[in-house]
Amino acid sequence: MTDVRQWIVPGRVNLIGEHLDYNGGPVLLMAIDRTLTIKVRRRDDDTVNVWTDRAGSNKASFPTSVRPGDVEGWAAYAAGTVWSLVEAGHAFGGVDVVVESGLPSGAGLSSSAALTCGIAAAIDELFGLGIDRTDLALIAQRAESGYVGAPVGIMDQLAVLHGEGGNAILIDTAATPPTTQLVPIAWEESGLILLVIATGAHHSLADGEYAARRDECERAAAELGLDHLSQAGLDATVRLTDDVLKARTRHVLTETARVRAAVSALNRSAWPQLGAILTASHESLRDDFEVSCPELDVAVEGAIEAGALGARMTGGGFGGSVIALLPLDEVATVRELVEARYAARDWTAPEAFVVHAAGGAHLV
Ligand code: GLA
Repeated sequence: MTDVRQWIVPGRVNLIGEHLDYNGGPVLLMAIDRTLTIKVRRRDDDTVNVWTDRAGSNKASFPTSVRPGDVEGWAAYAAGTVWSLVEAGHAFGGVDVVVESGLPSGAGLSSSAALTCGIAAAIDELFGLGIDRTDLALIAQRAESGYVGAPVGIMDQLAVLHGEGGNAILIDTAATPPTTQLVPIAWEESGLILLVIATGAHHSLADGEYAARRDECERAAAELGLDHLSQAGLDATVRLTDDVLKARTRHVLTETARVRAAVSALNRSAWPQLGAILTASHESLRDDFEVSCPELDVAVEGAIEAGALGARMTGGGFGGSVIALLPLDEVATVRELVEARYAARDWTAPEAFVVHAAGGAHLV
């Protein structure tokens, strides 16, 4: 078929700046060379068909006038994207979409943002809608918050659409619309790599706890008289009375500072410092924000013990993946130690793989 277009859409890791994107804070991410492939072609009617190679998922069909609640499960991300594009005022016809995943789902590597952003970008190009990448990201975010019902921030979508090989993306989520800036990554020139350890864990409280953390942050900001919690100063934890809100605020405050320090360390190739900042972020997420879990903690501790310069959970938490910065020649040692620690607890072995910074969603 000559009229089929093929898109490559990356997943992402968040290097640092966790739970800051809905608090108006800075975040630093990397699109990765683990990708979804999305094939699309126009149809002559208003039907959208979506096929996936994902185990247990069937083909889904719905009209471009699809409404929230009409489609559930995996295909809701596709239906939500179509709905969100229409809500944003765009007119287009039906499409056939085939999704092939090279991105483990549930690994916290943003397979959902890759799906929504990839479909949005593909429809935009196919029908010449002329939507810029940041607006596509906002449309994809609305697909999740307004259709799927997950109140996510904006960082994953921006990373998936604005990624560049050899670069991290620094996002200012306080700006309207949010702005992105590339930050070159040079650790590989120093013999270091970034390892993803996908724990395979996904604790079901993740969704409810995510919304609860957002709510706590909003309450803390309101009590402090701030528009968003990343504006909090060093006085904030003294002024707040509730211990839980104090701890959440301490995370947001220190994590905001860690993002700035991490960008500076990246720019100076100060790798031991960058590693320590990653580990400090993990400790703050574990102790103050309380979004870690034993599988993440054991992977972080094992990686550091086996020679990583630093490691942290990445993404929303309660499962998903850990990232670790380490010398290339320590990969096997880290993998073996973490696997042994998992085996000792009768946990399924995690999947560990090296990732590199990759380009954003693009047409092949
Ligand atoms: C999830 C959301 C993001 C972000 C992270 C936490 O991955 O999709 O928007 O809020 O959690 O940093």
